[in-house]
Amino acid sequence: MSETHEQLMEKIVALSKRRGFIFQSSEIYGGINGFWDYGPLGVELKRNIKDVWWHDMVRRRNDMVGLDSAIIMNPKVWEASGHVVSFNDPLVDCTGCRARYRADQIFTVVAAEADNELLAAGVEANDEQHAREQATAAANSKTRRRIKQRGDDLSWAVFRADQGGDGRPALCPNCNAELTAARKFNMMFKTFVGAMEDSSAVAYLRPETAQGIFANYKNVLDTSRMRLPFGIAQIGKSFRNEINPRNYIFRSREFEQMEIEFFCHASGADQWYRYWRDARFQWYVDLGLTSSKLRLRDHDQDELAHYAASCADVEYEFPFGVSELEGVANRTDYDLSRHQEFSGRDMSYYDDQTKERFIPYVIEPSGGVDRAALAFLCEAYTEDQAPDEHGNPQPRTVMKFHPRLAPIKLAVFPLVKREGMPELAQRIYDEATGSGLSAFYDEKGAVGRRYRRQDEAGTPFCATVDGQSLEDNTVTVRDRDTLEQIRLPADEVVSWVAERIR
Ligand code: GAP
Repeated sequence: MSETHEQLMEKIVALSKRRGFIFQSSEIYGGINGFWDYGPLGVELKRNIKDVWWHDMVRRRNDMVGLDSAIIMNPKVWEASGHVVSFNDPLVDCTGCRARYRADQIFTVVAAEADNELLAAGVEANDEQHAREQATAAANSKTRRRIKQRGDDLSWAVFRADQGGDGRPALCPNCNAELTAARKFNMMFKTFVGAMEDSSAVAYLRPETAQGIFANYKNVLDTSRMRLPFGIAQIGKSFRNEINPRNYIFRSREFEQMEIEFFCHASGADQWYRYWRDARFQWYVDLGLTSSKLRLRDHDQDELAHYAASCADVEYEFPFGVSELEGVANRTDYDLSRHQEFSGRDMSYYDDQTKERFIPYVIEPSGGVDRAALAFLCEAYTEDQAPDEHGNPQPRTVMKFHPRLAPIKLAVFPLVKREGMPELAQRIYDEATGSGLSAFYDEKGAVGRRYRRQDEAGTPFCATVDGQSLEDNTVTVRDRDTLEQIRLPADEVVSWVAERIR
């Protein structure tokens, strides 16, 4: 990460803390690595992401229904899904300082399998910082995906952390002592259900919401009258005991997922896969990720999990590098077949028209709420200039969120705290909140300062009641991005804003 990228990330993190978007979890006790809390603005942003997703993916479609399944499920679910055996990351220990690393995240030249072009660029530049970044990027791209999805011995061999493939052990980036060879570490959090803490009571916190959908597929089919092709959508918390949570809220140990399992006949799977791949990409574009930082990347054949016929990632160029926001996969009939095998329940579907009985194929768009929030925060963060009350340009920081995602939609100010201005401003504020618009009333300090505070919160519109308002009942409405101010009748402000945030 170059210095400017690091600085940019630091500014976004600082603003998020200062303005109440994101706090470190249990900060008063020194925090806990991999867990984050969302403050008043952050929770609104996150809720808006989930609401917009639910609206666009579930409510507006007649081929989708929702589900809210339990976080803790019968442990057999995770045997059937393969998580008990293969949901592993490669772990290495330092023989000196005892630090633990995920093998693919340390400066390890995994030349045999890594992305050699990336590595070569770093090594040739003869610049340790650059080489480190490239090696991490290389490991994060191809090799990491292979490890994650295949988990087979060949891939594990790659993670025998040897520098340059010459068999020498890698060294600890912290103390330079030797690292151990990689071993498998299962990322599911374990707990006990009931009073007995023995092996018969072991259960897991779900590492994905998807299995709750598969386990309920028959229930939904039997109760909702849905016929193929159709999808089941779920938003909820997932937990992964990541070895190295990092990059702020990008990789944490507790996070939220927005997942769809879309069931169809095998013959339509390719078409639905392409449909969902494009539709999910477009969803992010429509919500403001319009820059070239957003990409859609099809997986190479050798990156695919053994059960996946095709897979694509929606990726975003964060300040710390290009990383996955969402994956869209054709999971074939793998999951339902496995649950049929492990549960003994019939997972087949009978098509009344073709008289065919079969196990449906599944297309899965699976995204992270926190990663989406981080991408929206990064994309929104803008430094520009805005005139102060004397018309002189001054630097400002503004969060240019899409209006649908902005935590506060409308801020209302009386220019001064007298002459009836607060009363009219309060009336507009009450009308806004009464109609379900998230609004903010502020009468403290210079109006220029109040605008700046709302710019940092990402509020798209500010309405100001001034002297003229008391004569003709109009107010000024300022646009966050263009800084244009127009006058509107006071009783039209709320409907005008509501129109623009849809
Ligand atoms: N059911 C498929 C599945 O869970 P995944 O690629 O492991 O696939 C899907 O996860 C999405 O969940 C990712 O694209 C990412 O947005 C989010 N996600 C996964 N692990 C995460 C973590 N440790 N922290 C934050 N988000 C995570």
